[in-house]
Amino acid sequence: MVTTDIPERLKRFEIPGRVTVLEGNGELPKIEATTDWSTAEIYLNGAHVTDFQKKGEPPMLFTSQFSRFAHGEPIRGGIPIIFPWFGAREGSPAHGFARLAEWELHEATTIPEGGVSLRFGLPLSAHGATWPPIATYYVVTISDRLTLELIVTNTSPDQPFTFENCLHTYFAVSDISNVSVSGLKGVHYLDKADNFAPKTDNADVIRIASEVDRIYCDTEATIELLDSKLRRKMRIEKSGSASTVVWNPWSAKAQQMPDFGNDEYQQMLCIESGNVVKNKVTLAPGKTSVLKIAISSEPSEQGR
Ligand code: BG6
Repeated sequence: MVTTDIPERLKRFEIPGRVTVLEGNGELPKIEATTDWSTAEIYLNGAHVTDFQKKGEPPMLFTSQFSRFAHGEPIRGGIPIIFPWFGAREGSPAHGFARLAEWELHEATTIPEGGVSLRFGLPLSAHGATWPPIATYYVVTISDRLTLELIVTNTSPDQPFTFENCLHTYFAVSDISNVSVSGLKGVHYLDKADNFAPKTDNADVIRIASEVDRIYCDTEATIELLDSKLRRKMRIEKSGSASTVVWNPWSAKAQQMPDFGNDEYQQMLCIESGNVVKNKVTLAPGKTSVLKIAISSEPSEQGR
């Protein structure tokens, strides 16, 4: 049952000057975090980070002007949590149920030197009755960087649990023509835009000039996203992630997406960290997996 007093129930987590709970778009509860270096906002719907911005810098995350903000609907932009499956699944929502569920806020704390950490839990009701027993948490730590940890424990006494996960990060860019991506040279990928054809790209950097939908496998490499106009380099460091997905829908696909502007593909690039397809995870009973990424930025003097 959806109630409008949810923000009031969450007020006990507020920390003056650091953590505020308020009503966001679509009357959904939203948390705003302020640190000495940055601001962030997170919706309970999907435990979805929609904004992260360092002081004096443009936002690092893109969220569509046309996104839906409604219970049970995914938000277009920010960082959707893809879990427990990636992509389409017949009879079930694309990219799993985690991004559609209202997560619970379990804890909000300050960390040394002025940062904030928020801990969310995925309620069991999100799984449906037939789903295996798992405990799923998400820790969002905001400081001069944004650190995200998706923690999954198989609580079954005797059954293994197999899943995919992905932190589907939409990065904000000045214009897609100004962007290059490094860290994936020579890594094998499946080209979703070409019927999952296996390919390898040996270029030093990836530039985006058409639809891109690539699943890079067996790589834990740090990725760098250079924006030559903003003279900013964004970095994604990761652990517990063997896959990287690079996605931009480009013009024709953008026009088919009701929650995305026709030209917004020019302002974003998804670089997604997780474990998908052949890198899916199997957890033995009682075991825990942690997918962790840290997103940071630094000025770059490098041109194109
Ligand atoms: C990417 C997929 O991860 O997500 C793409 O590789 C997909 O194929 C994209 O189009 C967006 O998915 P959705 O369900 O949010 O529209």
